[in-house]
Formats: sequence, structure tokens, C-alpha cells
Amino acid sequence: MKTTTKLAIAGLSLAFATGAYAASASDNWDNNCAKCHGADGTGSTKIGKKLKLKDYTDAAVQTNLKDDEMVKAIKEGVSEGGKEKMKAFKDDLPDAEITDLVAYIRKMKK
Ligand code: HEC
Repeated sequence: MKTTTKLAIAGLSLAFATGAYAASASDNWDNNCAKCHGADGTGSTKIGKKLKLKDYTDAAVQTNLKDDEMVKAIKEGVSEGGKEKMKAFKDDLPDAEITDLVAYIRKMKK
């Protein structure tokens, strides 16, 4: 393989690697969370209503949510009666992106 080709491939995989790491909270939200919690965080999606999700634009809901509980829910997922309601994201998202998502949810408060 020619050196230029090798360099091009190395550059490409680096771009992918850094691109994945730098996923913004809004991209992560839209790709992983919005189908249940809604793009706006109100949980007014079809699945969201079925799961009776909290409305993250509601100030009272925000007050009752603790940051560490939110981080834990995103990392470990949420189960009820042994049934998984929300999957764990710790293998998909680095810690820094999980913290960013919590900050993103905080900004949904009206
Ligand atoms: C399959 C649907 C589904 C997806 C996808 C999903 N969630 Fe959840 N999430 C739930 C359910 C169900 C609960 C627990 C019920 C509740 O109390 O709202 C929950 C709870 C939470 C909580 C704990 C606070 C709370 O409302 O009790 C946070 C924070 C949260 N989700 C954030 C996220 C983030 C961030 C993502 C994307 C990385 C995500 N969720 C993806 C269904 C989902």
C-alpha cells in the first residue's frame, strides 16, 4: 500500500473517532432519546405517553429531579418490576456526553 493511501485511511478513521467523541448533546438527544422523551422533552410521543414519561419542560418536574439520579438513569437505564423501560446508555455514550445530556435536559425547563 502506498504511504499516501495509508495516511488518507489513518486520517479518515481519526476523523470518525473524533467525530463520534464530539457528538453534541442535541445530536445525542435527537438520535437516542427523542423517540421516547420527545424532541422537546415533553414526552408527548406515542411511546412517551404509553410509558407515562415526565415532562422535562415542567419546572416542578425539574425541581424533583436530581442530577445524580439523571446521570444514573442514563448510565444504568430504568427498569420496573424487572422489565426494562429505558436501556442503559453507558456503553454507547462517554461520561462527558451523559453529563452534557443532563445539562441539555435542564435547559428544557420553561
Ligand atoms: C425506550 C424509551 C426511552 C428512551 C429511548 C430513553 N428514555 Fe429516558 N426514560 C424512559 C423511561 C420509561 C423512564 C422512566 C419513567 C419516567 O419516570 O419518566 C426514563 C427516565 C429517564 C430519566 C430519569 C428521570 C425521570 O424522568 O425519571 C432521564 C434523565 C432520562 N430518562 C434521560 C434519557 C436520555 C438522556 C435518553 C437518551 C440518551 C433517554 N432517556 C432515552 C424511556 C426512555
